[in-house]
Amino acid sequence: MKASVVGASGFTGGELCRLVDGHPEFELAQATSREYANRTVGHVHPNLRHVDLRFTEPDELERVDVLFAATPHGVSMNNVDAFRAAADTVVDLSADFRLSNEAAYDEWYDGHDRPELLAEAEYALPELNRENLPGADLIAAGGCNATATILGLLPLFEADVLSGDEQVVVDVKVGSSEGGAGGGRASSHAERSGVVRPYAPTGHRHEAEIQDFLGLDVSFTVHAVDMVRGAAATCHVFPDEPVSKGDLWSAYRGSYEEEPFVRLAAGGGGVYRYPEPKAVAGSNFAEVGFELDPANRRLVVFSAIDNMMKGSAGQAIHAANIAVGLAETAGLESTGFHPVGAP
Ligand SMILES: NC(=O)c1ccc[n+]([C@@H]2O[C@H](COP(=O)([O-])OP(=O)(O)OC[C@H]3O[C@@H](n4cnc5c(N)ncnc54)[C@H](OP(=O)(O)O)[C@@H]3O)[C@@H](O)[C@H]2O)c1
Repeated sequence: MKASVVGASGFTGGELCRLVDGHPEFELAQATSREYANRTVGHVHPNLRHVDLRFTEPDELERVDVLFAATPHGVSMNNVDAFRAAADTVVDLSADFRLSNEAAYDEWYDGHDRPELLAEAEYALPELNRENLPGADLIAAGGCNATATILGLLPLFEADVLSGDEQVVVDVKVGSSEGGAGGGRASSHAERSGVVRPYAPTGHRHEAEIQDFLGLDVSFTVHAVDMVRGAAATCHVFPDEPVSKGDLWSAYRGSYEEEPFVRLAAGGGGVYRYPEPKAVAGSNFAEVGFELDPANRRLVVFSAIDNMMKGSAGQAIHAANIAVGLAETAGLESTGFHPVGAP
């Protein structure tokens, strides 16, 4: 199947090119960039120097089976007709089609230009809603911080520990690649190195996504930390009823034992006892774990993903695999490296 990547010179676009290049069923037919049109893909992404393809302009789309859009907010909603004309299946990595209703875009973004398509688009976080994806032709891959948070909390809903009314405080630490290649001064090495910087203390837009798909209002804070890849969510949960470790193991095992991309890490032995981004860097795995704090009637849930993989490009490939009827894990089977430097 032919696949194209719009916004291929960016961080998630580059990761998509890498994944499509290594995919057993997809062939990378087109990669767009306005800035680097006519340059080779390897000119921007040195890990892809072997790929025999040059960037083209985004208004020269060829017909393909699957089109991945890895462009900033607003681009997909303004170009969705051209994207759909060029491909049977469109998978968008931006937030343009994630939320289910126009009112949410009015509240959290600057409105929406194509609200009539929101009901048609399928949100994709396969562990949450894979049943909606087969045959879907307009797909919005779940956001990175929302994915980490939802995967951490989802088993608690399935086990009735959470119903949606409880207080949950979420703190997410993110790497610099979340800001994209055009991240600006705040993402420059000099400014970013060594920081633990609250960059979205309140009001982060992924709150809307968590509310929409988990039915839970979370108190959400995001810190920028000194790593390139990764998002680590720490969720402080205050359940109404006491919960035991055994209940939690049953809940998390029940939710995830069949999942190909979720691993549990909840206080076993070794150095990496709980989820952390270093353990999943470069892979499509999410790690989820928990610990009880009975004295404070608190349950703390940890989850970690690679934002470039499970948080964006890997999630998009996973969704496309399901949409077009391939094995879910196709092209996503590699594990990360260990040991490795800061991801
Ligand atoms: N980074 C992450 O961890 C992450 C995670 C989840 C979701 N996302 C979402 O994924 C999208 C891409 O993020 P990113 O981090 O990869 O951004 P990025 O590194 O800044 O890349 C953006 C890409 O879009 C292209 N582009 C910009 N404006 C365009 C336009 N008007 N028409 C066509 N192409 C255009 C740029 O290339 P040219 O200017 O050369 O055309 C570039 O290749 C964003 O919506 C982001 O919110 C990112």
